[in-house]
Amino acid sequence: MAIGIFDSGLGGLTVWNAVHKRLPDLPIVYFADSAHAPYGVRDMDDIYNLTTAATQRLWDAGCDLTVLACNTASAAALRRMQESFLPPHKRSLGVFVPLIEALTERQWGDNSPPREVAVKNVALFATPATVASRAFQRELAFRAIGVDVEAQACGGVVDAIEDGDMILAEALVRSHVDALLRKMPRPDAAILGCTHYPLMEAIFADALGPDVKVYSQADIVAESLADYLQRHPEMLGQGQGGLFLTTGDPARVSARATQFLRQEIRFTAA
Ligand code: DGL
Repeated sequence: MAIGIFDSGLGGLTVWNAVHKRLPDLPIVYFADSAHAPYGVRDMDDIYNLTTAATQRLWDAGCDLTVLACNTASAAALRRMQESFLPPHKRSLGVFVPLIEALTERQWGDNSPPREVAVKNVALFATPATVASRAFQRELAFRAIGVDVEAQACGGVVDAIEDGDMILAEALVRSHVDALLRKMPRPDAAILGCTHYPLMEAIFADALGPDVKVYSQADIVAESLADYLQRHPEMLGQGQGGLFLTTGDPARVSARATQFLRQEIRFTAA
């Protein structure tokens, strides 16, 4: 058995880490499409084609269930995949809905009409493609009313993280937070809507100040995956053990992943 976790690069490792902690016996095949990162500056068709190719590779590794641990792919490709790509015995789960359920204090699968929630002013930090898709606002509108969302497209942050340039990544995060606060001076919640951003969570929290609750996805997604697998044990697939696959240079990607997770991670060519 195995499940697949997919991201354009290293960001999904934040989700891998949380899932591994929550379900330590679950074998995971992780796929980093490093050769094509970042996705956040690509158009929707491009992101769809790359995401379906990655999903196909995870099926080949015996994973019937794949987690798109990438907001950009979840925003640009998941709905289209569900409509016209996924056969009945395969599933892909995105990272948006669990986060929005947490933000709006909903139980999984609660499809009751949208209602007033505690948060009123939400700052969304995401890639340019995710912001342009407005997928976050659409999913939120199904569940909550009266929430004002201000989105900041954080150009450059994913590239800097993939390159291991954390000084540049920090400077960019601080300037994107400044830009957001000029548009919305007093958010009560901030969403890190890109799985790379938890690697910079301390910087976001510092720049936003102590009154802003920062939501990041990894633990929320891990919890909702555990819940899903309990209800759908048949989705555990035929895969044989965990694996890290990349379309990039395995030595380079392994070195960065080891640095981020502070444990030895060894990627092989996808
Ligand atoms: N981790 C991806 C996300 O959550 C990054 C996308 C990118 O490659 O730009 O959106």
